[in-house]
Amino acid sequence: MKVLIHNSAELAQQAVADILTARILAHPASVIGLATGGTMEVVYDRLIRAIAREAVPVRDLVTFNLDEYWGLAPAHPASYRSYMNARLFGPAGIPLERTFLPVADAADPAAESDAYELRIREAGGIDLQLLGIGQNGHIGFNEPTSSLASRTRLKTLTQSTRKANQQYFGADEATPEYAITMGIGTILDARECLLLATGSNKAEAVSRMIEGPLGAHCPASALQLHPKATIILDADAASALELREYYQHVHPDGIDRQPTHG
Ligand code: F6R
Repeated sequence: MKVLIHNSAELAQQAVADILTARILAHPASVIGLATGGTMEVVYDRLIRAIAREAVPVRDLVTFNLDEYWGLAPAHPASYRSYMNARLFGPAGIPLERTFLPVADAADPAAESDAYELRIREAGGIDLQLLGIGQNGHIGFNEPTSSLASRTRLKTLTQSTRKANQQYFGADEATPEYAITMGIGTILDARECLLLATGSNKAEAVSRMIEGPLGAHCPASALQLHPKATIILDADAASALELREYYQHVHPDGIDRQPTHG
């Protein structure tokens, strides 16, 4: 794991936007895995600006999102399809027909999950998977105890995840109970993983992911198995790391000084 600790959330968010921009410039036909949530909002703002400023070609990109709430029509204002269209795809000019999320109002969640896996395989697999982390250590919506070999499927959300996401729903509408999410095995198949965490409310989950035992109780700890996983943090999210000084010694100010992973 490569652990890059930046002095502020802004610098960490910019670093992630820079990696995505450089990746798309170098490989315009990349297959990128995307995440939603509050953490990604500034990243996507920065990415949209870079795409406009540097005339980054996005017409050949293919994207796959990690997850979607089960039961929400794509047009629902709190769906992840709506989030992605409004916060990235529309403003960046990414052709919608090349962007994929699980279809969460399909009749059969198992069939839709299998079809999603197939779509990813047919696209040649994911080159770079962007990730956030939940306070309970989830990645995508792989809640604690998810199998480390899991594939795309319907998952029951924990009450704490539903509570954290209630802000995106109206006062009279509860956060859905289920989501279709890529599995941990699906995520680990990506050629590269890039996880961003900011804020002290993520510090404990971050320390369990990086320094805790590998286990389904902290699904993000599965990234310890990935040969090319980069974790980008701000100082607050890094504050519970035992080996923080070592990571800062290897990559001062979060600047990636070593091209290899390990
Ligand atoms: C959503 C997703 C989730 C979020 C996580 C953190 O697509 O993949 O794992 O990344 O719940 O959410 P925020 O950024 O809102 O704290």
